[in-house]
Amino acid sequence: MQLQDGAGNTVSRTVQALFDLKGRNALVTGGSRGLGLQLAQALGEAGARLMLCARKSDELEHACEQLQSQGLDARWVAADCATPDGIQHVVSETLHRLGPIDILVNNAGATWGAPAEEHPLSAWDKVMNLNVRGYFLMCQQVARRCMIAQGGGRIINIASIAGLGGVSDMKTIAYNTSKGAVINFTRALAVEWGAHHITVNAICPGFFPSKMTAGTLQAVGVDRLAALAPLNRLGDEEDLKGLCVLLASDAGKHITGQWVAVDGGVSARVGG
Ligand SMILES: NC(=O)c1ccc[n+]([C@@H]2O[C@H](COP(=O)([O-])OP(=O)(O)OC[C@H]3O[C@@H](n4cnc5c(N)ncnc54)[C@H](OP(=O)(O)O)[C@@H]3O)[C@@H](O)[C@H]2O)c1
Repeated sequence: MQLQDGAGNTVSRTVQALFDLKGRNALVTGGSRGLGLQLAQALGEAGARLMLCARKSDELEHACEQLQSQGLDARWVAADCATPDGIQHVVSETLHRLGPIDILVNNAGATWGAPAEEHPLSAWDKVMNLNVRGYFLMCQQVARRCMIAQGGGRIINIASIAGLGGVSDMKTIAYNTSKGAVINFTRALAVEWGAHHITVNAICPGFFPSKMTAGTLQAVGVDRLAALAPLNRLGDEEDLKGLCVLLASDAGKHITGQWVAVDGGVSARVGG
């Protein structure tokens, strides 16, 4: 959208206006804790109205109370984002209770640790069904039921640096494969849906403390994982906020089909 002054000249908006998400509706999967809650908080602080989803109602309720206590507009719906029925339910509830979805953050994810030669097939399917099939079905539902008709939208897929290759100390072959798939899914979908003015981008976080990484952090050690990053640190509760709002807002309207690592430089390193 371009603004014009009284003489018909194009006027560029301020940075504050470009990053403003007031009046936008955002759906964040896996928004009850961890990275999803950080992403929801960022979108809410920038002005968006929020719908969070995950499976556990108590954690969703707690997350919403936390966001509401900070003056943010948040609600939740419990569903399994690995199933077509669950995804359909989330989208129906969001459209009904929030309105058209402007911003979709596909963040709900699962992992499984096992040496590749012993990795159970059932765990491979569980990881793929949520991390890849679930992202695809959610994008398809949201596009079909609102973004295409409304002439645009923003999709942010949470991938991982694990989607760029192997990671020392992690034996998570299904997870790495799924996150690699998310990156190319993002790029291909951006090309296909550019015509609908839907941008599709991926964020590749490095190591952030969360329920998902608690076991690895304990087994490998915080210092050792931090040392994999040139910045010698893990991600914290604010490191994803800026990129998320950039990709969700008019400030990012010309960015699509990209992935950006937020990893302290882990993925920039060549060799050990
Ligand atoms: N933490 C990191 O260092 C890191 C690094 C790179 C990428 N990531 C990615 O970031 C995303 C969030 O990870 P996290 O570390 O914040 O993990 P987390 O703390 O385990 O949070 C996962 C979230 O997803 C929800 N979820 C899990 N399975 C679900 C399902 N079947 N249906 C609906 N919701 C489901 C969980 O809630 P319920 O259990 O209630 O369903 C929770 O809200 C994932 O995609 C992960 O791969 C994380």
